[in-house]
Amino acid sequence: MADKLVIGNWKMHGRHAFNAQLVKQLLSSEQVDRAGVALAVPAPYLVSVGELLKGSRLSLAAQDVSQFADDGAYTGETSAQMLADVGCAYVLVGHSERRQYLKEEGDQLRRKLLNVIAAGLTPVYCVGETLEEREAGRHFAVIREQLSALDGVDSGAVVVAYEPVWAIGTGKVASLEQIEEVHHEIKAECLRRLKGSATIRVLYGGSVKAENAAAILSIDNVDGALVGGASLVPESFSMICQTATKLI
Ligand code: PGA
Repeated sequence: MADKLVIGNWKMHGRHAFNAQLVKQLLSSEQVDRAGVALAVPAPYLVSVGELLKGSRLSLAAQDVSQFADDGAYTGETSAQMLADVGCAYVLVGHSERRQYLKEEGDQLRRKLLNVIAAGLTPVYCVGETLEEREAGRHFAVIREQLSALDGVDSGAVVVAYEPVWAIGTGKVASLEQIEEVHHEIKAECLRRLKGSATIRVLYGGSVKAENAAAILSIDNVDGALVGGASLVPESFSMICQTATKLI
């Protein structure tokens, strides 16, 4: 089985002292300090957390990126090239909270994806249906439409995170069958859309915890996890990373 990727998404949480303590606790576990684990931290802390991760095998990830590629008069924006410059390896794109609260969609997300790839970084493109869309039986159509942002991408290692909106931060996890069938569909759809040397890995996200990680990470076509709440609790995140290590 290929290496699993576990990304902790801190969302809008953290302060210098908290971050230092959390990273210290994570790095005290050999199984966490391994290739295949990344921390997506808030933008103001990318540099300082990057420093804390130096000499470890954990990677740095950003939670968002500008749709504008080049330097310019874009007040408040952070480009993919800047994220590369401060040592990020991964960039989340299109997280459902940004789709919901900031109305990110379509072309804007495609530009972000292309900028991340052009900067030599790996995008973690988040897709997933709302409860209403699932209940109406429209989840596959919604996800396929979201994946159209990847059309023709022909290089780079693309990561897609399947995060059913109704499972994020709610404690409700999609059933193993639901995860398996959606991941299968995402891989097939990506193979249709990606070209050339682009490769694809699909993570699951939405209430992943130490208790359910083994079952979820063992499913076919689940190449890792995007972890929100549990990534802020060192014991929980360490357990999830250890579970992923055992499954390699
Ligand atoms: P959660 O968040 O693990 O707290 O459900 C996952 C995410 O939004 O990436």
